[in-house]
Amino acid sequence: MKLLNASGCLDALTAPEVARSLDVFVTKTVTPLPREGNAPARIAEVEHGMLNSIGLANPGIDRFLAHTLPQLGELGVPVWVSVGGFAVADYADLCDRLDDRPEVEAIELNVSCPNVDDVPASVGEIVTAARAATRKPLYTKLSPATADIGSAGPTTGVTFGVGGSLTLTDATTDGVYTGSFAVDADYQ
Ligand SMILES: Cc1cc2nc3c(=O)[nH]c(=O)nc-3n(C[C@H](O)[C@H](O)[C@H](O)COP(=O)(O)O)c2cc1C
Repeated sequence: MKLLNASGCLDALTAPEVARSLDVFVTKTVTPLPREGNAPARIAEVEHGMLNSIGLANPGIDRFLAHTLPQLGELGVPVWVSVGGFAVADYADLCDRLDDRPEVEAIELNVSCPNVDDVPASVGEIVTAARAATRKPLYTKLSPATADIGSAGPTTGVTFGVGGSLTLTDATTDGVYTGSFAVDADYQ
């Protein structure tokens, strides 16, 4: 089992020692273009926890590749890059751009962000396009907001992860899904 942060909840360049204490550092989601994110307030404390609606604020893939990723590569902890988009082609392009970067151990597909207006296409199309675009290991971050969760299609070599509080009726208590999607994949 690996210990890793939830995407967006740790800035490894601000807190490198925290990042190094993990087995893997997962980046905040990177999108094709820079995004300011949602207007404040973006985080609110509530009685039983906190709510967030950040809206995928990030510098965009060009700046990420040129400035952020080289610094993350110096940390000495495996880096998984979380990518997000608003069309299948966005995911494929992001995966393609990360494919030959040695700093990247794996790519996490964020198909689960509920805090943006545009809902991406089905998970199946995204995963299939991403798999074709990169040789890196792929993890797909699912959540209750994931559109069309059972449509992953005949895709191989993709491991699904679960973000947030998704409840799968055939999952074990530690989140391992024991049911069957129509895919040839491992579930973690
Ligand atoms: C400030 C903040 C920023 C986040 N940014 C991202 C993000 O960029 N990409 C992503 O996939 N999830 C993002 N998340 C969601 C977390 O990764 C996680 O899925 C979510 O907090 C649910 O986990 P929890 O129930 O343990 O809080 C963010 C969460 C917070 C609080």
